[in-house]
Amino acid sequence: MSRRKIIIDTDPGQDDAVAILLALASPELDVLGVTAVAGNVPLPLTERNARIVCELAERPDVKVFAGCDAPLERALVTAEHVHGKTGLDGPQLPDPVMPLEAQHAVDFIIETVRAEPNDAVTLCPLGPLTNIATAFQRAPDIIEKVAEIVLMGGAYFQVGNITPAAEFNIYVDPKAADIVFKSGIDIVVMGLDVTHKALTTRPRVEAFRNLGTEPGRMVAEWTDFFERFDKEKYGSAGAPLHDPCVIAYLLKPELFTGRHINVEIETQSELTMGMTVADWWGVTDRAPNAMFIGDIDADGFFALLTERIARL
Ligand code: RIB
Ligand code: CA
Repeated sequence: MSRRKIIIDTDPGQDDAVAILLALASPELDVLGVTAVAGNVPLPLTERNARIVCELAERPDVKVFAGCDAPLERALVTAEHVHGKTGLDGPQLPDPVMPLEAQHAVDFIIETVRAEPNDAVTLCPLGPLTNIATAFQRAPDIIEKVAEIVLMGGAYFQVGNITPAAEFNIYVDPKAADIVFKSGIDIVVMGLDVTHKALTTRPRVEAFRNLGTEPGRMVAEWTDFFERFDKEKYGSAGAPLHDPCVIAYLLKPELFTGRHINVEIETQSELTMGMTVADWWGVTDRAPNAMFIGDIDADGFFALLTERIARL
């Protein structure tokens, strides 16, 4: 089996952590590296959390890099109110032992894409797009080499979760998102429209806990913690499990449906800053630049996720 080469760019965050576990449990994927970015919590915590998750998966061999500690132009906005002070609040976790790579994450992304053949590497951003955009600014030659970008971010019918108009990952660094969405690379957008249909209902969380494994217990306890915020906010039966949708798409794209449409990023108005303006109804002549995912087979998604976490 030829394994799909990916770089996971992430701001763990409990949902990022579950996405990383899913990727490391899936032999179809070759995780070339995990690059941390400031987002849910500041960079020293996101890089630490990424190492904790790799060790939980018993994969201290995975290379973890620290990237950008602030957005391109704006001050960092974090989300401790959702993810807790550490970014992985919920279960008690040991300090990581595996080292952080000395190389900057952006240099790793550039070097890796340059070293691989064209269309060999898929970028999987799960947080603000600062590392990705910085890599494209520093090394425009890699843009045509990237196979695809499958990212968690944005929203249209579900509107915003950090402002009335914007989803968190895009809101934190709208300039970076604008660079990525205008790059010309094939992009798959896992926005709130689809992730809000991937809810951690009690039976789904208990299925993780009932695996009887440390990773299964961690996923259940992370979910117990971070779902409190969204369940209260949306009155929903569980919290949206955002970031694992990106990895699940790589493994079973048939679980998802969407439209190839134009998506542009608001970078001027403070009122709608970071909004993903998705031409879902094709009312403009703007060229399509993204596969905007709108629906998911949620039972199939959680069955895949549970089966794979059970392998760790
Ligand atoms: O809006 C949800 C996104 O913001 C997720 O990626 C979550 O981890 C946070 O980064
Ligand atoms: Ca994230």
